[in-house]
Amino acid sequence: MEALNLALRAVTRPGDLVALESPTYYGFLQILQMLGLRALEIPTHPRTGISLDALEVALAAHPVKAAIVMPNVSNPIGASMSEASKKRLVRLLESRGVPLIEDHIYADLQFDAGAPRAAKAYDRTGNVIFCGSFSKTLSPGLKAGWLEAGRWRDAARRLKFVASGGQNELAETAVAELIDSGGYERWLRQLRRRFASQVDAARATIAECFPRGTRVTRPAGAYILWIELPRGADSVRLFERLLERGISIAPGPMFSATQRYRNFLRISVGQIWSERHDTALREIGRLAQQA
Ligand SMILES: Cc1ncc(COP(=O)(O)O)c(C=O)c1O
Repeated sequence: MEALNLALRAVTRPGDLVALESPTYYGFLQILQMLGLRALEIPTHPRTGISLDALEVALAAHPVKAAIVMPNVSNPIGASMSEASKKRLVRLLESRGVPLIEDHIYADLQFDAGAPRAAKAYDRTGNVIFCGSFSKTLSPGLKAGWLEAGRWRDAARRLKFVASGGQNELAETAVAELIDSGGYERWLRQLRRRFASQVDAARATIAECFPRGTRVTRPAGAYILWIELPRGADSVRLFERLLERGISIAPGPMFSATQRYRNFLRISVGQIWSERHDTALREIGRLAQQA
């Protein structure tokens, strides 16, 4: 989150327009709001990621000052772009002089073929600002992450200094040793297997218990499912009813600056899966039938 904050502060001013995927991670919207920035939502496909045609049209029509994209294992939709699309994304933004802020946080959790290439790999001009962290793979409490700010490296360094000074060197050294020893890669292999099987199990339960006409993503990695309930269902009301039962979901409108996705919800199946979680998922399905 700090990397994303610094990246946006380095390349925008209050009032600027920032393009992002739709649906998008609500944390991005919160940062935009806090920095006085405006969001431009670009349609995103659950398999192929952000629509590059739509982005191209948007860039021609609006004064976009930055784009935040998750090319690998996006949140909440779970898409991973093809290598050709990542390259086209980088070239397109480069040609329009619009910085690409890449969030790589779930990339190491991609199920097939291990850690995929970042869009940053296609960057020739320093136009891509690359952000990532170990929060989703090791522990959110570590607060260990990175920012490679390309052309804005000096500006980002100055902003970082006034925002929070240095880094947590103890945590960083521990993570570096884990990577060097091969332990991180072994841990990732285990995590990917566990998450893939939990995603499969949850999708099967959803197919069995949710209302007819429900659609659910098959994410490229990690542990997040984006669910579309039949038209007319109200995920905000569903969220309130589930909260009374101690079950937490994220209702669809959280993932849009324009309160879209009222009949969508996001669930996370990252916890070590147990009977309790399966029962909770069935309860979500049962209440969704009434929603
Ligand atoms: C897409 C995305 N980016 C960034 C973050 C924030 O990560 P961190 O806890 O490392 O600041 C999250 C956490 O949920 C996330 O889902």
